[in-house]
Amino acid sequence: MKLNLEKKVVLVTGGTRGIGKCIVEAFLAEGATVYFCSRTAAAVASVEQALTAAYPASQCHGAVVDVSDAAQLDAWVASSAAARGGVDVVVANPSTLSMADTRAAWTASFETDMMASRNLMQAAIPHLERTKGSIVSIATVSARDLDFTVPSPYGALKAALIHYTAQMARTLAPKGVRANTVSPGNVYFKGGVWEQIEHDKPEFFAGQLKANPMGRMVRPEEVADVVVFLASERASCVTGQNLNVDGGLVYRCELLK
Ligand SMILES: NC(=O)c1ccc[n+]([C@@H]2O[C@H](COP(=O)([O-])OP(=O)(O)OC[C@H]3O[C@@H](n4cnc5c(N)ncnc54)[C@H](OP(=O)(O)O)[C@@H]3O)[C@@H](O)[C@H]2O)c1
Repeated sequence: MKLNLEKKVVLVTGGTRGIGKCIVEAFLAEGATVYFCSRTAAAVASVEQALTAAYPASQCHGAVVDVSDAAQLDAWVASSAAARGGVDVVVANPSTLSMADTRAAWTASFETDMMASRNLMQAAIPHLERTKGSIVSIATVSARDLDFTVPSPYGALKAALIHYTAQMARTLAPKGVRANTVSPGNVYFKGGVWEQIEHDKPEFFAGQLKANPMGRMVRPEEVADVVVFLASERASCVTGQNLNVDGGLVYRCELLK
């Protein structure tokens, strides 16, 4: 299947590790020009260097941006768009991954998981309307299931993100812009949240692993491939969807224990 993403301009927030980094790589592998960001200068520099070397036919540009700072985010979208004369795809990826039901956690999660995603979309929409581009937001199956993350802002705010992304799909469809959400299940990678849980709470980890019908957790590359497909013209009539990439993970009451 030819995705025709060569030279398309793609913005990915939170691209230095895990799912976001795999999304950056997957677009680069398709020949896209990718702008990514994170808050950590050293990680941005090393990922940019490594991916520039790995994908010499594509262009990869990192920037230090805290997406919870609306002014920084707006400036990054504007400068990325100006550099290439437009934007074809935006991917709203970062989360606080916060499982704490505290006021501070709700505020921080709202700013990063929900508001920054909304701000990314709104800053990009004038550009996406010109290119008839596409939006992908990253949520979670915890937006659907009352799983081990409750009570916390995590699933609740991701549910809001799924709803807002669908609102954008409805609003922007007449302009030829699509918007979809990808909701991963348990995604395992070195340095990720599940490796940390495996280390800190091995029994809990074993129970969660068992809940995955495929007998394994999702690989971040498997999420990235779905994001790239949804962003591409091969998904030209897919909009307003929330696609789970979870290996068939189903909610089980005993996992709340
Ligand atoms: N891992 C899972 O099992 C799983 C499951 C379901 C859904 N998800 C969703 O998938 C997405 C990615 O998860 P992940 O596990 O890959 O996360 P991760 O390992 O924490 O990586 C997050 C990335 O975003 C960056 N980031 C975080 N906060 C940021 C901010 N305020 N501004 C700019 N960049 C920021 C991080 O770099 P810095 O920290 O250096 O800024 C990093 O590059 C999240 O939306 C998460 O909810 C993950």
